[in-house]
Amino acid sequence: MKVNVAMLGMGNVATGVYKTILKNKEIIKHRDDVEFNITKILVRSLDKERDTLIPQEILINDINDILNDDSIDLVVELMGNVEPTLDYVSSLLKKGVSVVSANKDMISQHWPKLESCAKEGNSGLYYEASVGGGIPVIKTFLDSLQSNNIEKLSAIINGTTNYILTKMSEEGLSFEEVLKSAQEKGLAEPDPISDVEGHDAKYKLSILSSLAFHSKIPVSKIYCEGITDIKVDDIMYGNEFGYIIKLLAIGKRSGDDIEVRVHPAFIPERHPLSSVRDAYNAIFVEGDAVGKLMLYGRGAGASPTASAIISDMIIASQTVSHKYTTFRNIDKPSKQINFMDNWLGEYYIRLTVTDQPGVLARVATIFAKHNISLESLVQKSKGQDEVPIIFITHTAHEKDIMNALDEMKDTNAIVDVASLIRVER
Ligand SMILES: NC(=O)c1ccc[n+]([C@@H]2O[C@H](COP(=O)([O-])OP(=O)(O)OC[C@H]3O[C@@H](n4cnc5c(N)ncnc54)[C@H](OP(=O)(O)O)[C@@H]3O)[C@@H](O)[C@H]2O)c1
Repeated sequence: MKVNVAMLGMGNVATGVYKTILKNKEIIKHRDDVEFNITKILVRSLDKERDTLIPQEILINDINDILNDDSIDLVVELMGNVEPTLDYVSSLLKKGVSVVSANKDMISQHWPKLESCAKEGNSGLYYEASVGGGIPVIKTFLDSLQSNNIEKLSAIINGTTNYILTKMSEEGLSFEEVLKSAQEKGLAEPDPISDVEGHDAKYKLSILSSLAFHSKIPVSKIYCEGITDIKVDDIMYGNEFGYIIKLLAIGKRSGDDIEVRVHPAFIPERHPLSSVRDAYNAIFVEGDAVGKLMLYGRGAGASPTASAIISDMIIASQTVSHKYTTFRNIDKPSKQINFMDNWLGEYYIRLTVTDQPGVLARVATIFAKHNISLESLVQKSKGQDEVPIIFITHTAHEKDIMNALDEMKDTNAIVDVASLIRVER
């Protein structure tokens, strides 16, 4: 079967897709009876220098050449951004052309619109590469885990922040030092905000948790905190308690109560996610039937992402009746759903206090007043005017912790509430 394909974008990932299709053309044809014939490629600049394998004669810069071409069977969207991409993809889907996309920003924020356009046009919307690069996580949630009631997912779904935290932990370097060297090596974007502030992970968690919990989880409902304030001292102190730091995207469902959050977290060294180093990603799922399951692999990069894109292209080409999400994909989540912001957890807290008698008793009184009990306490040094004290709490409510810390900020002998890092098990 010959499939005429148009590509939107010919950047990093699209070049990987083009080259992998060339490389694996025969095997795809032999095994899947699919032959991709790339006829048009939309780019911004026709003059830009590109890989020599990309045929210049099929580059175009007017979307109408694709929208008005009825010979195109399938479109691969790798332009990124929401505008003008959303308009292009919506028009194609409505027209009946299936689209494969890796665009988590667009999918997470405009999924209901895109899915309704696809239903209207009887076309398919495929987005395996939007989360976890080459890790087959979307199909796992859409198909392989459908028999389960998913109770929790914990994921490392941003390679840049995992790389930064790994280097900070293993080499004792500061956030700023590692970010600078990652940018020099091309491992972090020149503008790293979306990665380091957790927004990229938040978009991906919106997609994953919607699939896991069978309900639209809007990006706006996700609590989000990045890694810019993480200090090497805390990573090292955490290590002494047997913890490793990760930027986690967490979704939990208990009945109609859902909590969704992205933030740095300490996890025990024995947790399977603690061994996910550098730019690798992993998704740890807990389902009532399957139990615990972990998917691990490369979450970005031209070749791993191409792996997911091309598998979507093959499936889209072979499918007559396309599949859509199994929940009501509407802008607002179901009224039944209760988004929790006062979740239960354990906490690592570092205070700087003046080294004088009675301070610890005052801190303990504030904790007790807010229903917080302590698992461990370590005072790091003595003999200075100001000393760090580290507390690990037992399970407590988030709001109680915040109220206790607010009260401590106004307490004389407590110089600073230096750090708060959530502990996940
Ligand atoms: N990079 C990764 O490892 C990775 C992993 C997973 C998912 N993704 C997603 O994959 C998508 C592509 O990422 P990328 O890293 O390949 O991006 P990229 O290298 O910046 O490439 C973007 C391409 O789109 C073209 N383009 C952008 N805006 C356009 C417009 N308005 N009209 C026409 N063409 C336009 C650019 O044209 P010019 O070449 O002329 O500038 C370029 O070819 C994004 O949604 C990203 O989030 C990326």
